Amino acid sequence: MEKISEGKTKEVFLLDNDHVLLRFKDSVTAGDGAKTDVIEGKGILNAQTSALIFRLLEREGIETHYVGMKDERTIIAKRLTMVPVEVVLRNFATGSIVKRLPISEDEVFDPPIVEFFLKDDARHDPLLNYHHMRHLKLMNEVEAKEIEEVMIKVNEVLRAIVVRLGLKLYDFKLEFGRRDGRLIVGDEITLDSMRVRDPNTGRIMDKDLYRKGYPLDQVKASYEEFLEKLRSVA
Ligand code: C5P
Repeated sequence: MEKISEGKTKEVFLLDNDHVLLRFKDSVTAGDGAKTDVIEGKGILNAQTSALIFRLLEREGIETHYVGMKDERTIIAKRLTMVPVEVVLRNFATGSIVKRLPISEDEVFDPPIVEFFLKDDARHDPLLNYHHMRHLKLMNEVEAKEIEEVMIKVNEVLRAIVVRLGLKLYDFKLEFGRRDGRLIVGDEITLDSMRVRDPNTGRIMDKDLYRKGYPLDQVKASYEEFLEKLRSVA
């Protein structure tokens, strides 16, 4: 099967004209690829987590690229023309926003804040506004606003699930792709791309564990625990 691209954590194969296979690797990376390790079995955990969340979104009427599973670490997805933009929604402040702006850790965003970043590791994923995106031919303002609406809907679904797990959804990142003139949710939704913490103890469950240098087996145990919890409510 033809490999059409490979990123830091996934390989993409062409299945047929309309579909691709997304194979989740066991790698974990941070700092735009500056730090990287292998956690055996992580690809399986992330493929399973992402598939489960995509199915929940589809059930709520949000269109995603998810079609099914090929094997335990490989998702069958609709083929999209990906837009190289990372779209982040924040409910509570942490991460890059508290470094960029005079905003404190844990500040509440009500309504949530949506941000666009260029997918460009060499430039450390710079922040984009509508003007930048139009000039760079990434998307027009109407499309950007449509994406913001989808982010809000996904947030409602994701947040409700995370609350049922007794946890708090800080933020998440989505990537979008074009298909038949529409923009739909692609890529993945996993603990690599969202931040989830225990609201009482502040315990971190997501990739921040890895970013902050916790042992790899602790990172894996947390990903396993989250998937188990998800399965129990899905
Ligand atoms: O680093 P920052 O605070 O901007 O990240 C916001 C959210 O986007 C976090 O959930 C993070 O895991 C996710 N993210 C991502 N891929 C990146 C940058 C951020 O999934 N390249």
